[in-house]
Amino acid sequence: MKLKDNNNIKIKLDTAVKHHKENNFILAEKLYKEILDIFPNHLGAIFYLGTLYAQSKKFNLAKEFLIRADSLKPKDLNINLNLGNVFHETGDFDNAIKYFENLINIKQDFTLAYFNKGIVLNKLKKYQNANECFMKVIEIEPKNLTSHNIIAANLIELNQQNRAILYLKKALKIDFNNRVSIKILTDLLSSLKILNLDKESKQEIKDLFTFLYKKNLINHNQLFNNAKLFIFDVKEYDEIKKLIEQKCNLIENQKVKQILKKEFFNLILQKSLLRDKFLEEFCNKIRKEIILSLDNLADNSSEFLNFIISLAEQCFLNEFIFFQSDLEIEAANSLLNEIEKDKNVNEYKVAILACFIPLSNSKIISEKLIYYQSKNVLFNDLIDMQIREPNKEKELSHKIDSIGDISNMVSKKVKNQYEFNPYPRWRFITEGVKSNFINILNSNIKPNKITSNRSFFNPNVLIAGCGTGQQLENAITYENANILAIDLSRSSLAYAKRKMEEINFNKIEFMHGDILNLANINKKFDVIECVGVLHHMESPEDGLKVLLKILEPYGFLKLGLYSEISRKHIIEIREIIKKENFSTGIKDIRNSREFIKNNKDNKSFQKLIYNYDFYSTSSIRDLIFHVQEKRFTLDKISKLLNSLNLEFLGFTDDEVKKKYSDYYPEDTNKTNIENWNTLESENPDMFISMYQFWVKKK
Ligand SMILES: C[S@@+](CC[C@H](N)C(=O)[O-])C[C@H]1O[C@@H](n2cnc3c(N)ncnc32)[C@H](O)[C@@H]1O
Repeated sequence: MKLKDNNNIKIKLDTAVKHHKENNFILAEKLYKEILDIFPNHLGAIFYLGTLYAQSKKFNLAKEFLIRADSLKPKDLNINLNLGNVFHETGDFDNAIKYFENLINIKQDFTLAYFNKGIVLNKLKKYQNANECFMKVIEIEPKNLTSHNIIAANLIELNQQNRAILYLKKALKIDFNNRVSIKILTDLLSSLKILNLDKESKQEIKDLFTFLYKKNLINHNQLFNNAKLFIFDVKEYDEIKKLIEQKCNLIENQKVKQILKKEFFNLILQKSLLRDKFLEEFCNKIRKEIILSLDNLADNSSEFLNFIISLAEQCFLNEFIFFQSDLEIEAANSLLNEIEKDKNVNEYKVAILACFIPLSNSKIISEKLIYYQSKNVLFNDLIDMQIREPNKEKELSHKIDSIGDISNMVSKKVKNQYEFNPYPRWRFITEGVKSNFINILNSNIKPNKITSNRSFFNPNVLIAGCGTGQQLENAITYENANILAIDLSRSSLAYAKRKMEEINFNKIEFMHGDILNLANINKKFDVIECVGVLHHMESPEDGLKVLLKILEPYGFLKLGLYSEISRKHIIEIREIIKKENFSTGIKDIRNSREFIKNNKDNKSFQKLIYNYDFYSTSSIRDLIFHVQEKRFTLDKISKLLNSLNLEFLGFTDDEVKKKYSDYYPEDTNKTNIENWNTLESENPDMFISMYQFWVKKK
């Protein structure tokens, strides 16, 4: 072979690799093949062609060329690595592991080989073995964050929560803002069974809750049920209970004073809805004592200022649901007059007033405070929450385009309800990790798994009835998604839009309108989500048919529908509420809650107190005062899906799926609706909030 020929081949290979790197696959392939025409055993051309086929997902060709390369040069790191990856991609996990193990034998500190082997073992649900690989990775690379996160997630699967916490703490030491670690920790702490912890572990868990409560991009409502267990210790709880029972003054009690100054308690009040009867009673009693002793206290720099601001934020979050006696209302009204007349800003008094009415109710106070800057960050936060943000929503609500007039009578009534009480009021959501829609769908419907020949790389997503946007927590993690969110209520849409702007998520369009008018927009969607909406329509079936018309034939639809069985007690309560003539005004809503709480013999009432939706105005209105509510049974849903030629893909709630496994271990996909129907009839509270599930067209 002449030197010149060799040079030409080298130039050709360099050019091919250059095109390859620039994703110009057609040209690169042609050049590699030209080299192989001359030198059929040219290792470089064979190897690169193999990798090119792997990148183009032509896996059979990729295997053929990479195996040829391997036979020409055994023990090559890159060849073995690519072979392992190709077998992994094609689901041939045994061969994938074989090649990753080859790599480990060749180079014992090759982290990528351990890592990739671990990923394959994870897919095989061999979490223990997978973790051995990831441990090896962090032995070589102690700061490998992803491995720490995967080890923690696997330990949770293996029911070793304490060890998982250890790895999450290590991960957060490497990067305390890491979204994946934070998400795993949030999920873990909200589902942890907190029983009989020793003092040290209790402090450790409390510190982790505090860490999460100090952050903003977290759904603190999710954490509340466990977090509340760390507010009081047993002694404090007993003492407060006694003080309340004996109708003693709380605010003068030294223990109570200390509790009110606790940062952790204040953070909980600021960020999560207090869904607890005892805590509500405690806070409400203190609020009452404060307003009724205002003249005596008359202390501008009260030691409780931060607590009062936190309580005002809580009251805004729960839409002023706590009961107010006539005396308190009177005192709040005179405080309102006093503040309106005062030329100065008395932050202490403003914060107290903000515990009773939204500050934006007063034009004078709004104008006085809209540009006000306090030295107290928390006070500024309160003004943001109660004045600046509602003001922004008012501006936004006029700017949202409409998809057509709302003419259906039921839709009109429903719109009125949600214009007045946008549902739900929320503060923060967990900023999830972005991933391809199909991955997220599969994790939603697991253990069922769908494969799609569509990439869903850039999915068009419709959120039909988005409300205030809390539901978007899931959809904003769909990679490259274009989202359209519609709703009947402009005030809900404005809330949602402001919240999305707050987290800088701008790939979302909001439109005002009725699901019944969706055909007007002349567009089809790859994914549609409609949760907690159809059952508020005159005909949920008609609404569903509209959605199916605009769902692509290969698309996916998520539905959330009320369960007739789970809402049996609510049906009874709705009747009583009607009989007692409670209106939907705030005073009557508060009175109805007291009526329910005090009626200790009524089992349905007592059950309602454990419902999350009992604890804010818009949610209790949604729960027992709704102008339109229809309910479903699984039998009815099954018939509906059959009649519309839809395939049931699975429920999204992991807890109910765990229960199902105990009863029907043989149904590995957990998609047999008849089984689910039987299970629900034996466990009537299973779907207490809703049935939430995915379907697709058959
Ligand atoms: C209970 S909220 C649920 C909000 C949201 N989907 C969630 O899960 O947080 C119901 C929402 O559906 C909206 N809605 C009800 N009927 C509708 C219709 N026909 N067209 C559009 N939106 C509707 C209401 O305005 C309200 O915001």
